[in-house]
Amino acid sequence: TDGVLVDRYGRVARDLRVSLTDKCNLRCTYCMPAEGLPWLAGPQLLTDDEIVRLIRVAVQRLGITEVRFTGGEPLIRPGLVDIVTAVAALEPRPRISLTTNGIGLARLAPVLHAAGLDRVNVSLDTLDRARFTELTRRDRLADVLAGLSEAAAAGLTPVKLNSVLMRGVNDDEAPALLRFALAHGYELRFIEQMPLDAQHRWDRTTMVTADEILASLAGEFTLTPDQAERGAAPAETWLVDGGPARVGVIASVTRPFCGDCDRTRLTADGQVRACLFATEESDLRGALRAGADDAELARRWQAAMWGKRAGHGIDDPSFLQPARPMSAIGG
Ligand code: GTP
Ligand code: 5AD
Ligand code: SF4
Repeated sequence: TDGVLVDRYGRVARDLRVSLTDKCNLRCTYCMPAEGLPWLAGPQLLTDDEIVRLIRVAVQRLGITEVRFTGGEPLIRPGLVDIVTAVAALEPRPRISLTTNGIGLARLAPVLHAAGLDRVNVSLDTLDRARFTELTRRDRLADVLAGLSEAAAAGLTPVKLNSVLMRGVNDDEAPALLRFALAHGYELRFIEQMPLDAQHRWDRTTMVTADEILASLAGEFTLTPDQAERGAAPAETWLVDGGPARVGVIASVTRPFCGDCDRTRLTADGQVRACLFATEESDLRGALRAGADDAELARRWQAAMWGKRAGHGIDDPSFLQPARPMSAIGG
């Protein structure tokens, strides 16, 4: 490594999140409209080789040690297994994880594990089939549950679950989701909804807060703060009924963790985002296709991170949602 990704506040990025596609096979109501979104066009997308090259630059020249693949839905990218194989062959080998809605994971879990994927985080907001169908606009709960068991069986562990609660939709389901996670050995995290939806409907007053989620769990479980070092992790964790099982809350809005952020992001069309909420991006695809060498790509990435703001600014009166929605950033 001849450099690091450091911003003007001294935060060092070690964790790279790579969006492999902005498309998705679900249509969660809090994320995108039923008709989908204007997807990126083919030529705008990085090729598999371009993705691997940028990850190689990040790992070998910029000190990245963790690579997470996201979407949209990353399992629908045809080259996923080849990309994982190539990234797992890099020296030094980064840890490799994936954030998915779980559809298709039942079939792909063993293949991905063999390719070098270490672990998965799976989105699951409800265990009720009718609710799932209403919430995601697709009747696919059974596929997700099959994906979860196959992921655990294949050794993609620890398997983590991500749940977003919505008032009047599934906010009564926190204890049931935790019971399910405990029974299967998955690590559950609840996520406060962030203003990143394509439809710009996010509203602080309807968002289910960390405090509400913890209160709802306290009716059935005893939660004690986890003493383990949190580091840069978005999730704050509690031991459930004395442990060792844990539950997490990712409280981006009510308990922001931007001060410890160690993340940098690459979109499916090759733009570096210093933050989930960045309003500026740096065009690595353009540089790469214009013939930039690895050193130049690394310099541009470093310059992009220097512009990272201190925090997401959701509480500022002047806050504006970034133009790119969550589904095109990858969370
Ligand atoms: P691990 O804890 O390493 O398993 O990963 P993770 O929780 O960071 O990843 P995951 O993709 O499962 O993300 C879970 C939720 O955390 C998603 O809603 C992400 O958008 C959110 N998240 C991840 N990184 C950040 C971040 O830098 N800022 C904010 N505000 N939210 C983040
Ligand atoms: N706020 C918080 N989390 C969100 N997710 C999707 N949209 C939002 C949002 N606006 C969740 C997904 C998935 C994870 C990667 O991010 O449900 O679990
Ligand atoms: Fe749901 Fe994620 Fe797809 Fe959005 S990108 S519709 S949250 S699975």
